[in-house]
Amino acid sequence: MAEIRIDNLLKKFGEFVAVEDVNITVEDGEFVFLLGPSGCGKTTTLRMLAGLEMPTDGRISIGSRNVTFLRPRYRNVGMVFQDYGLYRHMTVFGNIAYPLKVRGMPKADIEAKVTDVAKTMQITEVLQRKPDQLSGGQLQRVAIARMLVRDADVFLMDEPMSHLDAQLRGHMRAELRHLQKEIGVTTLFVTHDQLEAMTMADRIIVMKDGQMLQFATPREIFERPATEFVATFVGEPQMNVFDCRIRRSDSGYFASCDGFDVPLDTAWVDTSGGAALLDRTLRLGVRPEHISVSETQDAKHPIKAKLFAFEPTGAENLYVMDCGGVQLTTRTSTNETAHFDKTEGTDYAIGFDPGWLYLFDSNTGKTLAFGSQSDTGNTEA
Ligand SMILES: Nc1ncnc2c1ncn2[C@@H]1O[C@H](COP(=O)(O)OP(=O)(O)OP(=O)(O)O)[C@@H](O)[C@H]1O
Ligand SMILES: [Mg+2]
Repeated sequence: MAEIRIDNLLKKFGEFVAVEDVNITVEDGEFVFLLGPSGCGKTTTLRMLAGLEMPTDGRISIGSRNVTFLRPRYRNVGMVFQDYGLYRHMTVFGNIAYPLKVRGMPKADIEAKVTDVAKTMQITEVLQRKPDQLSGGQLQRVAIARMLVRDADVFLMDEPMSHLDAQLRGHMRAELRHLQKEIGVTTLFVTHDQLEAMTMADRIIVMKDGQMLQFATPREIFERPATEFVATFVGEPQMNVFDCRIRRSDSGYFASCDGFDVPLDTAWVDTSGGAALLDRTLRLGVRPEHISVSETQDAKHPIKAKLFAFEPTGAENLYVMDCGGVQLTTRTSTNETAHFDKTEGTDYAIGFDPGWLYLFDSNTGKTLAFGSQSDTGNTEA
């Protein structure tokens, strides 16, 4: 087991910069996720940790060892690839046993280890089959089992659940999280699925265009996103964001958006920059769960809205509203809204929770003001 330290990691393919400025320390035993859209450099980063790709610049240490240019076999790293990387001509047993055989482990010890890990991963009954005789879920377990037998210092997993159906993914999320905590091996897990990262991670690295936007706990990422991109990438349905200008009237500050005005908390605006925020084009963000819906306009629901689409999901209702030509999504639990008639075109009134508003810089995308009710724990960027 070991801590992973990455300093100023850079990877170029020709002139193309695939990964840039990655600086992180993953603690011993920590479960850390690399989250970002397709092509943002997740696999490349993981391959540099495994030694399958050489960095253009920077330094990688595992424990006290500088492994930056060390060959893969000397790193003591276990990896599950995006496509599992199993040998098709070998049985499941042969696949799991392979890394142990290569290291010259005695046959009896290999038998015992493979039997043991197969039990943990619930694949005992398929040990004599070949990979093409397995389901996606079984394949994934075999790939993970092969990683687990290695007694590695670090586990690296590249989208190991991307081929599974929704139900199996849900099941595997809990199982993998449990297993990682039980074994306690420092693990880096790559995904573009925000739900996977939010539910399983100790901490998440959000990446975009080869750069690291934020490295923090799921809660910090959700409540105190460093940029508008992070804010909209996590959370489903995603945060509503509008162009706006902050203005001042006799009754206090308000955000003037295209189609409607949003009253703001005076203390919040003052502590977030006050007059410096006035009359600039900014972006105002609010998550669907922080918009309340009412049948009548009142102080808490000052914004007129017309129901554009109603989307019941079972446990909650999503209302896509039209506010003066701008669409936004609100979310409420079903029992709160059971009395609504839900006819498209019906007039409602909505209100934004002033404690859960965000302001983003429209040029840099950086967060200028967090929701005043968000977790104020330390945010590492
Ligand atoms: N060997 C290579 N030569 C040239 N460009 C490469 C090479 N490998 C990766 N790239 C480019 O580097 C960028 C990052 O690729 P990478 O595979 O790390 O993305 P990713 O975040 O893992 O994406 P996905 O979610 O689709 O797997 C991409 O633009 C990709 O085309
Ligand atoms: Mg990838």
